[in-house]
Amino acid sequence: MNTSKQERVLEHTASVEQRVAAIESALAERGIVDADVIDELGHVAREQWIPQNGARVVARAWVDPAFRARLLANGRAAITELGLSLPAHHRHLVVLENTRTVQNVICCTQCSCTAFTLIGLPPDWYKDLEYRARVVRESRTVLKEIGLDLSPDVEIRVWDTTADTRYMVLPEQPPATIGWPEEMLAGIVSRDGLIGVARL
Ligand SMILES: [Fe+2]
Repeated sequence: MNTSKQERVLEHTASVEQRVAAIESALAERGIVDADVIDELGHVAREQWIPQNGARVVARAWVDPAFRARLLANGRAAITELGLSLPAHHRHLVVLENTRTVQNVICCTQCSCTAFTLIGLPPDWYKDLEYRARVVRESRTVLKEIGLDLSPDVEIRVWDTTADTRYMVLPEQPPATIGWPEEMLAGIVSRDGLIGVARL
């Protein structure tokens, strides 16, 4: 498409906010979803679906080897021990353990799926078409571009999320933090660490 044609298309395309409002009013008009339900969902997403949940899981796994074993065996069951849960359609939570020589990275090549109750809603770059396409084909280069320059002896494993299987990375505990209290450990676990595009 040439530039002037692109500009004309953009001129006639509603903004994201306008499109969201149009969908909301269409759903409300037809009585499919109440406007209050949509507001409530937005509230839950902002307040409760946060990476601090995943950070608590990681901190517990670092201090409690038996919990770590349960988490790796059945993530969905283990997180309930911390009062956390996944929606019913996230049937499996697979927790991927990073080591000195293995870096796990999560993506969704189709769209934007994550274990959002633990990691939070996906950041914009995670949904970007170019990122989704390239992270599976040239993961080492993509990670380097976004600030994670791994030595050649680190194997990179990329995991493509599906509708019913969600992933969370268990980052390697920084040696300097051995012996820290659990709450303090949770404070150093970032969303990018849970996705696997950063090391802690
Ligand atoms: Fe997706």
